[in-house]
Order: sequence, then structure tokens, then C-alpha cells
Amino acid sequence: MYVQALQRCWGNFSQLVLRAADLREHGLFIDDVYQFLDLKPTILPPALPKPTPTTIREGITIKDLCFRYPGSDEDVLHNVTMTIRAGEHVAIVGHNGSGKTTLIKLLCRVYDPRAGSIAIDGIDLRDMDPEALRRLYSVHVQGFARFQETARRNIALGAIDQDFDDEAIARAARLSGADRVIERLPAGYDTMLGRTFARRHELSAGQWQRLAPARAFVRDAPIVVLDEPTAALDATTARDMVDRLLEVAVGRTTIVISHRLSAVMQTDRIFVLDQGRLVETGTHQSLMAVGGRYAQLFRMEEVLDP
Ligand SMILES: Nc1ncnc2c1ncn2[C@@H]1O[C@H](COP(=O)(O)OP(=O)(O)OP(=O)(O)O)[C@@H](O)[C@H]1O
Ligand SMILES: [Mg+2]
Repeated sequence: MYVQALQRCWGNFSQLVLRAADLREHGLFIDDVYQFLDLKPTILPPALPKPTPTTIREGITIKDLCFRYPGSDEDVLHNVTMTIRAGEHVAIVGHNGSGKTTLIKLLCRVYDPRAGSIAIDGIDLRDMDPEALRRLYSVHVQGFARFQETARRNIALGAIDQDFDDEAIARAARLSGADRVIERLPAGYDTMLGRTFARRHELSAGQWQRLAPARAFVRDAPIVVLDEPTAALDATTARDMVDRLLEVAVGRTTIVISHRLSAVMQTDRIFVLDQGRLVETGTHQSLMAVGGRYAQLFRMEEVLDP
């Protein structure tokens, strides 16, 4: 009896030690959660925000914009000045690291410029409520998320604040070319994507790339921004996607960034960035006639991918 009691005591004691170790381990994760919850936004609404327009009448004016990332002592955008008229379809092109994505981040006010300004219909972004500002945009980001969710929810998450039906989701999927990917999934729009859950189905890089822009298309906003929606797509598919998009985006201000010049050559105006500077602006025809940086890039593409 004594031996058994001793064994029981020992057993309980070791359980106690194990539980204490568990508690400590979970405590470390809880710390992460609290640190996350304690994060303070760095972009704050102004004390008296000006009313944000719900439709764009004039356009976006970018003036002498200079920007450097926090903790860096080198500007990545130098005196960029450009205007994008309401309803215009423009493209931003340039080499890797020329500042295209950075410009989009500033447009959405993820950061504030070091100097210069961005205004929509004459109102400086810093005078608007950031939440209201972001409602003006439908954005496809270059480093998009791969949600471990159904195909339907993966598209629907592009507009969690808006009501829409399955027809709107199917329309967005057709626009981005995701419909052909989803058609072949075992449970269609209800297929669980990714590798986390049961009955899952992982997509290829190019298949995810077709699905993600549908998230921007399902959202109804006056400004559409697409950062590399054509990455990993072949030349014809890329051109088709941009063509279809521009067709439905009539009247919506649209900014497309692409390394495939043949996919964006039909936009109203093309801005060429080089090492953070705006070096050329014009239509495809006018830029080809000038024979500068754009013409050089375009000819290179024709040689490499005829
Ligand atoms: N979060 C960041 N912190 C610090 N520097 C950054 C950050 N993001 C980008 N940069 C720097 O800013 C410059 C411009 O980057 P950006 O992402 O705007 O280029 P990009 O034109 O979009 O290139 P790509 O065609 O490769 O997408 C690069 O030199 C890059 O090193
Ligand atoms: Mg980029």
C-alpha cells in the first residue's frame, strides 16, 4: 500500500512538472498574441478629416514625390510627378526595383512620403481618413496571400465589406482567367485550397496567380490597381487578361504594373520608372517613336519572346 501511494505521489508530481512546462510554453505564444494586439497603427487619421470622395471626378495628382523606407538613408523615389486622370487606364513599367510597388504603397497610404504629395481630386491623402481612402481602391498586390480556404472564399475575401452573390464571384473569376482553373478542381468553387486542411487541393504557382487578381475584380471601387497580375502567365494569356480587364473597367481609373509590355501597350498612357525616377510618359506609339527607354525594353521583349 505504501509503495503504491508513493508511486501515485510520484506520478502526480511529474504530471505537475509537465503541466508547468506546458503553461510556460503556451505563455510564449500568448506573448506573441499580446504583442500583436498592442501594435499601434503608424498611419493615423487626421483630427479633422476632409470628406473623401466616393467617385473620382478629376484624378490622382502626384507632385515631387520623394520616399525612403523607414530605417534606410537612401530615397527609392526621387521627385516623381505625374497625373492620372479620372477614368484613365495607365500602365507603370520599369526594371525590378525601380519603385513601382513602392509608388502603389504610397497611393494606398501604407507609408507617407518624405517630401511631395499625393492628392485625389485635389485632397491630400494625409487629410483623409485612411479607412475611407482605402475603400476607393481595388488592389491586387504583388505578394498576394494564398488563403487556406475554399476557392469561392479566396475570391470573396477581396471585398469583405461588400455584398455580392455567386454570379459576381464567377464574373470576377472569368475576368482573371481563374474560372478555367476552378472548373478542373474536384469540388469546383467549394474545393479547399492550400495544404492545411483535409480534402485539400494545392494549386500551382501560375494557378494561384490567376486566382488572386479575381479578388480585385470582385470588389467594386472607383480605382483599380493591379501590381503584376500577369506574373507567371504566358504572353498571350497575359494580354488576354489585361484586355478583358480594361474592357470592364471603362470609367474606372485603372493602374496596371507589368513586366510584360505587350500586355499593357494598349493602355491610354504608360509611365516608365527607372531607379525611382519617372523617365518617360506617353502612349505606346509615342514612346516607340521617341526611341528611348521604353522602346528599348519593348524591342528586347520582342527579341526574347517573339
Ligand atoms: N519594405 C522595404 N524596406 C526597405 N526597402 C525596400 C522595401 N521594399 C522595397 N524596398 C526597396 O525599394 C526599391 C524599390 O522597390 P519596389 O518594390 O518598389 O520595386 P518594383 O519596381 O516594384 O520592382 P519589381 O519589378 O521587382 O516588383 C528597391 O530598391 C527595394 O530594395
Ligand atoms: Mg513590384
